[in-house]
Amino acid sequence: MAKGKLITFEGPDGAGKTSVLEALIPRLQAVFEGEIVTTREPGGIEIAEKIREVILDVTHTAMDDKTELLLYIAARRQHLVERVLPALEAGSLVLVDRFIDSSVAYQGYGRGLDSSAIAWLNDYATDGHKPDLTLLFDVPSEVGLARIEANADREVNRLDLEKLDMHQRVRQGYLETAEAEPERFVVIDASQSLEAVVEAAFEAICQRIEA
Ligand code: TYD
Repeated sequence: MAKGKLITFEGPDGAGKTSVLEALIPRLQAVFEGEIVTTREPGGIEIAEKIREVILDVTHTAMDDKTELLLYIAARRQHLVERVLPALEAGSLVLVDRFIDSSVAYQGYGRGLDSSAIAWLNDYATDGHKPDLTLLFDVPSEVGLARIEANADREVNRLDLEKLDMHQRVRQGYLETAEAEPERFVVIDASQSLEAVVEAAFEAICQRIEA
């Protein structure tokens, strides 16, 4: 039985969760006595980082949607077994940048793959392990995309519209998942300043650790 706590960070691209995670670490270290482990998906350990390279390689335009899903799931399994579970066993506070809900939001709502297959695969890969807390950094799609493309001073083209549509579906997927599991999720308005978002995340984590 795991003794630590697993906290996952989720949200559409451009929500800023990676910056929030970095800013949170020193604040959490000041109040949490045990070890704090931060890691990410896909990646975090050698085998999963290699899978990440295959998934995110821009030359892999032929990648089929189901292949993509299965690679994320494979990376998840290896990362869980090698990194997350041992840290939880040791009593650590484990903060993971993306986990099961990314597959639901991106491959399910985003790419339109079957949600029951994704639920089954997630369950199979994790042996049913669920986070103790999931922070959803929610941002309107226009804001998220604008942050990503902040330096691209150009007109909106067809591909940008496709991106907006995908981003909106991913966001919708996250919001519906959070609504279905209110006891696991805390939704944070990530359109606020970084300081405000970090504060909200810090409070949510402290409350869950105390509980
Ligand atoms: P990354 O550069 O780590 O993005 P971010 O900093 O926003 O997390 O790339 C990870 C990408 O992989 C991101 O666009 C989301 C996507 N992803 C999925 O589509 N499905 C998944 O199961 C996971 C874990 C990530």
